[in-house]
Formats: sequence, C-alpha cells, structure tokens
Amino acid sequence: MSEVKPDLPESPYERWSVLRESYPVLQEEADAPYAVARYEDVLTILKDNETFSSDVSLRSEEEKKIRPSMLFSDPPVHNRLRKLVSYAFKRAFVENQRPLIEARCEELVGDLSQYRELDLVEALAAPLPVTIIAHMLGVVGGDQKQFKAWSDKIFSNIGEILFAQPDADVQKAQEEMDSYFLDRIAQLRRQPEDNLLGRLVETETEDGKLTDQEVLSFCGLLLIAGNETTTGLITASARVFHELPETFEQLKVSPDLIPTFVEETLRYYSPFSATIRRTTRDTSIAGTNIPKGALVLPLIASANRDESVFENADQFVIDRNPNPHIALGFGIHNCLGAHLARLEGQIAVASMTRHLKSICYADGESTVAGELGGPSSLRVKIEAA
Ligand code: HEM
Repeated sequence: MSEVKPDLPESPYERWSVLRESYPVLQEEADAPYAVARYEDVLTILKDNETFSSDVSLRSEEEKKIRPSMLFSDPPVHNRLRKLVSYAFKRAFVENQRPLIEARCEELVGDLSQYRELDLVEALAAPLPVTIIAHMLGVVGGDQKQFKAWSDKIFSNIGEILFAQPDADVQKAQEEMDSYFLDRIAQLRRQPEDNLLGRLVETETEDGKLTDQEVLSFCGLLLIAGNETTTGLITASARVFHELPETFEQLKVSPDLIPTFVEETLRYYSPFSATIRRTTRDTSIAGTNIPKGALVLPLIASANRDESVFENADQFVIDRNPNPHIALGFGIHNCLGAHLARLEGQIAVASMTRHLKSICYADGESTVAGELGGPSSLRVKIEAA
C-alpha cells in the first residue's frame, strides 16, 4: 500500500486511470475499504469467493438467517437461494418477456415524440425495468407506481442498509413494501398464480416451503439489483448518443449493431461501477497485503477500461468483439438478471433509434458517469423521426 495519500482527480474515470497506472490497490485512510482498479485483480477477487466473501452486511446473524440475501451471502446459503429463482432468469424464460418489453418500450418511446425536451429517466429509463420486474412478480395496475416509489427510496440508501441504520424514510418504505408483499403472499398461498412470486410461494426445498421472510427477501433483492442498474444502462446509452451522435446514426442504418452497442455501453459506462467483498483471511493483491476482515472494493467500471485487456479502452467501439467486460459481474454472483438487462437495453435502444431523429443532453454535461446505478434525472432534447 502507498504510504502517501495520493492527490487523485475528481472525475471517476480520470481517477481510475491514475489508480490502474500507479495505485492498483489503494486504501485511502485507515479502516477505509481497499479499492482495486485493474481488470486482472478485480477478476481474481470475483472468482475467489472463499477469500473474498460477499457476506459484508452488518446485520445480525439472526437477521441474516431469517431474511437471507443471495447477493450478500456465501455458499452454501447462496447456492440454495440462487437455485430457487434462477429458472425465471434463464435465457428462454426471459425471451418470453420480449413481447411485453417491446410493447412497453413502444408505448413509452412513442409517447416521447410529442415533446422536444424531457427527463429520460422519468419517461423511459426508470419505468421500463420496474414495470417488467413488477409484471414478473405479478404486481399489476396502480400498484406499480407505488412499487417504483418504494424501490427508489430503498435503493438510494443501499450503503446505509448495509452499513448503518437506515433512516426513518427508508425504514417506512421497507415496511410498506413488506406489508404489501405479505398481503400478496397470503393471497397466493390461498389462490396460486403463475408468476415469479406465485412460484416462489409454492416452491418446496429440502427445508420445506420458503418462509414469508425468505420470499420478501427475494422481492427486495430483485428491486435493488435490477431497477437502478437497468435505468443506468439506458441513460448510459443516451450519454453515448450525446457524446458520439454518429453512433445513433449508425444504429438507425444498421440495427444489427444494437447488441454490440449495448455490450460496449455496459463496458464503457458500467452502471454497477463497483461491488464489495470482505476478506476471510490475510491475503495480498498485486503485492499489497490485506488483513482478514477488511473490506475490498473491486472497481468494475475501472476494470472495464483497463488498457491491458481492451485495445483503445477509452474509445467507444460500437462493434467491439471480443468484449470480455465484467459489467454484469463474474463468478458465482454474476448477474442473475443479465439476459433480462441485455434484452431491456437492446429493446430500449431499438425503440429510441426507430422513433427519434436525434437525442442529446438538454443541459450540456449534466450527469456524472461512474456512480452506482444511473442519474436520478437526465434532461434530454429530442427530435421525433
Ligand atoms: C444493466 C443492468 C444490470 C447490471 C449492470 C447488473 C450488474 C450486476 C453485477 C455486477 C452483479 C454482481 C454483484 C457482485 O458480484 O457483488 C449483479 C448481481 C445480481 N443482479 Fe444484476 N445487473 C443488472 C440488471 C439486473 C436485473 C434486471 C436483475 C433482475 C431483475 C438483476 C438481478 C441481480 C441479482 C439477483 C444479482 C445477485 C446474484 C447473486 O448474488 O448470485 N440484475 N448484477
């Protein structure tokens, strides 16, 4: 570890470039997490779940047992939880959601054409993922708006949920959402429905049926893990269109480039910019000793700009192939919703390029890329096609 506290640039991408070059593993202050910037080291951490545990939450052991979270647990608890829901996120099952996603995008983007300027988050990037996951969970009609409000409140405080006492507003949102789902679960136990929530309620494991608390934990995780990140992918696409308007033109002429465009956007402006682990033993990364029990931050967005892996890493290459980015994670915790995220991203981009003649920021440089998730608002100017 460096003894001198380096003077790092403010902008995340410039900062990460300096870290990769000169401080690949950096603990800025005593007790702060160790930030890890290079691709190879981030990959090593994500692969080695025995040394780098995902059990980082400060919740009590009792609480974790009652309400386990897939994202923040290690095997064997993790395997059991993941197995229970993985069927709903397999490629073929997700493909079944295509007509719904397309219809929702057409509706949302079709509506945009009447405006010259709007908030892309409010108009498309936020409602799209929330409606789809709501639909998969069987949340319908007017409940969806409320569902989105809870999800926003809870996600915006993820750090606090993990490491501190959530504030009163977050606790209230959590309690309201829990109570809504408890009612739904009770209904489904009486009258089964064929949706993800209905199936979870019915699922039998070797320990019997899932408890209400276990089902609730899944609902919360899907909201936290799936919404803000997909919103971030859609706003990242708009950022690319603003900075490189020729990409928008290229996609209009050659829609077959949309899949590689989405992969490159995931790499270039990774919405899940960093994750977190805790060491289970003394270890070392890139020559830096890290004690047992320390927090480690694998900087995913930085790894995805590593020049030793990606040629011209700071250039957006619309048809980059191969593109071994790790924006959707790697190892046992790799993104469960990866197929869904890609499909939503591709369909949203296809709708924008079909319905719009152009799209750019309304206020010049209005967002900071590199944060976890996406901006809470993004004003754009559009011209209908
Ligand atoms: C562009 C959108 C998305 C991005 C960039 C993203 C990124 C990620 C990343 C990097 C991880 C690994 C975290 C870690 O190792 O600590 C992860 C895990 C996860 N993601 Fe996503 N995600 C996206 C969308 C979604 C969606 C749509 C869903 C589901 C509705 C979802 C559900 C999950 C779940 C449940 C996990 C935990 C998996 C596990 O612990 O085994 N994600 N995601």
